[in-house]
Amino acid sequence: MLPCAKMSEATMALKGSHLMLLLLGLFLAELVHQSTGKESPSKKFQRQHMDPENSASDDTKYCDHMMKARNMTKGRCKPVNTFIHEPKEIVDAVCRETNITCKNGQSNCYQSSQPMSLTHCRQTGASKYPNCQYRGSDITKQIIVACEGNPYVPVHFDAYV
Ligand SMILES: *[C@@H]1O[C@H](CO)[C@@H](O)[C@H](O)[C@H]1NC(C)=O
Ligand SMILES: *[C@@H]1O[C@H](CO)[C@@H](O)[C@H](O)[C@H]1NC(C)=O
Repeated sequence: MLPCAKMSEATMALKGSHLMLLLLGLFLAELVHQSTGKESPSKKFQRQHMDPENSASDDTKYCDHMMKARNMTKGRCKPVNTFIHEPKEIVDAVCRETNITCKNGQSNCYQSSQPMSLTHCRQTGASKYPNCQYRGSDITKQIIVACEGNPYVPVHFDAYV
């Protein structure tokens, strides 16, 4: 065997092991991703608060149906939640409006200049997990959301005013 042939064999072995490590890394990353199944903060905001398809409805069943459909009655009944009946672009744009302090003291909250169509759902006194029951009220108010990330989008519904 020539020394240079040995060299290239060694180099190939090294490259091969790097590739194996890379594949193993990708495999593990995918495994972790699947097992935690973690939804991004902006996806969570959309699941919990966005409902552009429906206009505010006086249907008393709206909150019972939506709180369940959007997985907020799993493990416990989420006590209060607000749905926004406006297009995503309009709600995302609130992150470029007036910067104000959030209820928790963080500085990344923004208040919409325009009132928006909302349904506020509140758990009834008789509601008992797993039979979560809600009362809904349709309101038109300015919203305050916390924004994060790049793109800079809503990740938390802070209040309506
Ligand atoms: C609710 O949870 C189920 C099961 O974990 C999932 O398949 C479904 O996509 C979730 N629904 C929403 C709106 O995220
Ligand atoms: C919002 O305002 C606060 C306080 O004035 C400031 O600390 C923060 O950086 C501002 N955020 C943005 C994104 O402008």
